[in-house]
Amino acid sequence: MLEIIINSFWLIIPAYCANFFPVLLKGKHPIDFGKKFIDGFRLFGDGKTIEGFFGGIFFGIFIGLLLIYLQPFIQQFYTLQFQHNLLTVFLLTTGAISGDIIGSFVKRRFGIERGEPAPLLDQLDFLVFSLVLVSIVRNLNLYFVVFLVIITPIIHYSANLCAFLLKLKDRI
Ligand code: CTP
Ligand code: MG
Repeated sequence: MLEIIINSFWLIIPAYCANFFPVLLKGKHPIDFGKKFIDGFRLFGDGKTIEGFFGGIFFGIFIGLLLIYLQPFIQQFYTLQFQHNLLTVFLLTTGAISGDIIGSFVKRRFGIERGEPAPLLDQLDFLVFSLVLVSIVRNLNLYFVVFLVIITPIIHYSANLCAFLLKLKDRI
């Protein structure tokens, strides 16, 4: 079990970082430029910004590079089952950021306003997309995927609660 926990987290760190960082940036420029879709609702909404898009990807890649650098040292005393390289880091971060945006697209199509909760979609959109993208180049251990699908909503909710208490977010 410990194996699953350690390796799953090691695998997903770049995606988590990419998804979390935009909250800190408080971007001002919506990536949909305020445009509406044919249904009259915003394409993505004010919660998805250009700053968040690039900031999230850069931060995720930066942390990913750190992981790549640390891997050889960790390997000396612990055998990592998932090893990052530039491609896995890139796919995980871009997958996380675009999955989050697609999640907002889906929410807007259901008439759910920016910031209104969409349980599970809010917490899993970025995870599913980052895992799908990285699975193009790596066979993922099914146990890692199942563990992450269960644990991510819990972490996401706790992190959002912290962001709310720290006044980084207006609502949970
Ligand atoms: N954020 C951003 N750019 C992104 C993603 C997120 O600027 N590409 C910032 C926004 O300030 C956003 C916050 O991070 O409000 C939290 O992200 P999220 O919970 O995904 O957005 P919501 O405001 O809840 O909007 P939505 O209903 O579209 O999910
Ligand atoms: Mg949200």
